Amino acid sequence: MKKFIHVVGARPNFMKIAPLMSALSRAAAEQNIELQQILVHTGQHYTPEMSDLMFEQLGLPAPDYNLEVGSGPHGQQTGKVMEAFEKVLITEQPDLVVVVGDVNSTLACAIDARKMNIPVAHVEAGLRSFDRTMPEEINRILTDAISDYLFTTEELARVNLVNEGIDGQRVYFVGNTMIDTLLKHKNAAKNRPILEQLGLMDNGQPKSYGIATLHRPSNVDDPTTLANILESLLEVAKTLPLILPLHPRTQQNIRKFNLQSLIESHTLTVIDPQGYLDFLCLLSNAKMVLSDSGGIQEEATVLGVPCLTLRENTERPITLTEGTNRLVGKDPANIIKAFERLKNSHGTHKIPPLWDGRAAERIAEVLLGETADKAAP
Ligand code: UD1
Repeated sequence: MKKFIHVVGARPNFMKIAPLMSALSRAAAEQNIELQQILVHTGQHYTPEMSDLMFEQLGLPAPDYNLEVGSGPHGQQTGKVMEAFEKVLITEQPDLVVVVGDVNSTLACAIDARKMNIPVAHVEAGLRSFDRTMPEEINRILTDAISDYLFTTEELARVNLVNEGIDGQRVYFVGNTMIDTLLKHKNAAKNRPILEQLGLMDNGQPKSYGIATLHRPSNVDDPTTLANILESLLEVAKTLPLILPLHPRTQQNIRKFNLQSLIESHTLTVIDPQGYLDFLCLLSNAKMVLSDSGGIQEEATVLGVPCLTLRENTERPITLTEGTNRLVGKDPANIIKAFERLKNSHGTHKIPPLWDGRAAERIAEVLLGETADKAAP
């Protein structure tokens, strides 16, 4: 029998693990391999909209362990995850730990496992923004450095890894498990009543609207930067009404910096963070998305929705070369100029190689092939 532990911690992790757990179950059954999968939620994200709703909508099993670490400064949060996850590893003694993405929980659990000589698989390895002021960039570099299986979403990731001295034999280009999830749920998302609920339907057709999301510390933790970005969103909303699902970090900072007046406009609709299906419904039908998220750049690329990324760099360059993504930074004049240029475009795009809904199957094939003992016939 083989035992794999999967780690999730924050919102963008859930959609990356869900297809992998299913693909592993299917492949193990087909190949007559006995596989126990254990799901550990570190509790980095914990409010219902950021966590429970995602589990429910993605069909993830309830976690076997919830470490309930909650929020806190980086060192504290990472340390709390490490302390709690180590205990799980001691109890369970798994054959492999799977981590995804680039959040603090990803790094914390990879360190624990590696130090106990348990192999680590990193899904979404090798992405680099080359901006070491981003906490996620530090998490990516360090997680990759100690992972045994590095699964990449785009070909440039291998180059980044090899340039950092990582053995290319450990790198597997498999595609994008987040896109596996998107393709699986795209049709179900179409039938969500969220557009009607927000008054975005007109005679059975979606109205013209855009969607915006903000949560990067570099955009929302400084009062002037946050105020400038919100003002540019207000300007855009004069032409294209915007829906703004507010991340808890941004919500708190708007209150703290006393910027509420900047989100009070009839063209800017502020809503709570949405579950996976409702957000996918909103994004699929939007004319444009303005965001500082990593994952949304990829989702918009596959959906063909023009995306203005409010950052100076991206760790996902394929969304620029093949997809619908444009980097516009956080300067209001640039944001508005880019919006004016793009507002009538239809977002010509190609689907990046291997973003075909089968990434998780490819990962399962590698992991079972490399690690599992076949059960006796
Ligand atoms: C984290 C990840 C980031 C990812 C983002 C997606 C790191 C370093 N950052 O950033 O890479 O893009 O998640 O959302 O791992 N809060 C709640 N409820 C929650 C979670 C957080 O109210 O369920 C509040 C807390 O007050 C917290 C703040 O939001 O202080 C920020 O949460 P935190 O997990 O520290 O970072 P994120 O900004 O969400």
